[in-house]
Amino acid sequence: MRIAAIVPAAGSGERLGASLPKALVAVSGHSLICRAVETVAQYVDLIVVAAPHGYEKPISVAVEKWSMKTSVITGGITRRESVSLALATLPDDVDYVLVHDAARCFTPGSVFLEVIHGLKAGNEAVVPLLGMVDTIKRIDQNKFVVRTEDRNFLGRVQTPQGFSLSTLRAAHARECSVEATDDSMMVEEMGRPVLTVLGHDLSRKITTSADLEWAEALLARRAP
Ligand code: CTP
Ligand code: MG
Repeated sequence: MRIAAIVPAAGSGERLGASLPKALVAVSGHSLICRAVETVAQYVDLIVVAAPHGYEKPISVAVEKWSMKTSVITGGITRRESVSLALATLPDDVDYVLVHDAARCFTPGSVFLEVIHGLKAGNEAVVPLLGMVDTIKRIDQNKFVVRTEDRNFLGRVQTPQGFSLSTLRAAHARECSVEATDDSMMVEEMGRPVLTVLGHDLSRKITTSADLEWAEALLARRAP
C-alpha cells in the first residue's frame, strides 16, 4: 500500500500580507511548509510540494530534512493547478493520495490516521469536516435572510483530503464549472461519494495575521 501526499504551498499569501510567500513565513522559528511536511512525512511514503514560482530553492531548503521522500515542483496560478501539476508527477503505483495545505500545518496526526483509515476501508474520497457552532442562515444577494439551515447537516471542510489515485486523477482531468477551492469538490461533481471524518480545531488554515498570532500563542503554550 503506497501513500503519497501533495502539499500545495504555491500561494502568495495575499491576505497575510507578509513579504515572503505564506509557506515560507515562520511561526516560532519554523516555516509553515517545514511544519506541514514534518507531520505529513510521518504518514506517507512520498511527498510532492508545489512551491511558488521563483521560490523553489528556499522551499527545498525548508524541507531538506525529508528530502529522501520529498520533491519540490513549481506550482500554478491556482490551487487546483498546483495540485494538478503535482499529481502529474506521481508514479502509477501509488494507491492513495493525501492533499494537505501547507497553510494547515498544525493538523494533528490523529486526523491523518482517520483519513487513511477511511481510505483503507474502501472509500475513494475522505475529508475531515468540523461541525458548525453558530446558527447558519442562507442569504440572498441583497443580504436578506432566505432561511435558517439545519446546521447538523453542514460543516467546514479541511485537509488532509484523501483519495484513491485513480479518483483524484479522474477528478482533475475534468473541466470544473466553478473554481475548485478544494479537491473533494471535483470528486462530488463527478457524482462520486465523499466520506467525512471528524476534523480538528488545530487544522485552522493560516490565512490572516490573526491566524498567525493564534499559532504563535499556541506554540508559546506548548513550549516547556
Ligand atoms: N496554493 C497553491 N497554489 C496556488 C494558490 C494556493 O498551492 N496558486 C496553496 C497555498 O499555498 C495554501 C493552500 O493552497 O497552502 C490554501 O490556499 P490559501 O490559504 O488561499 O493560500 P494563499 O492562496 O497563499 O493565500 P491568499 O488567498 O490569501 O493569497
Ligand atoms: Mg488563496
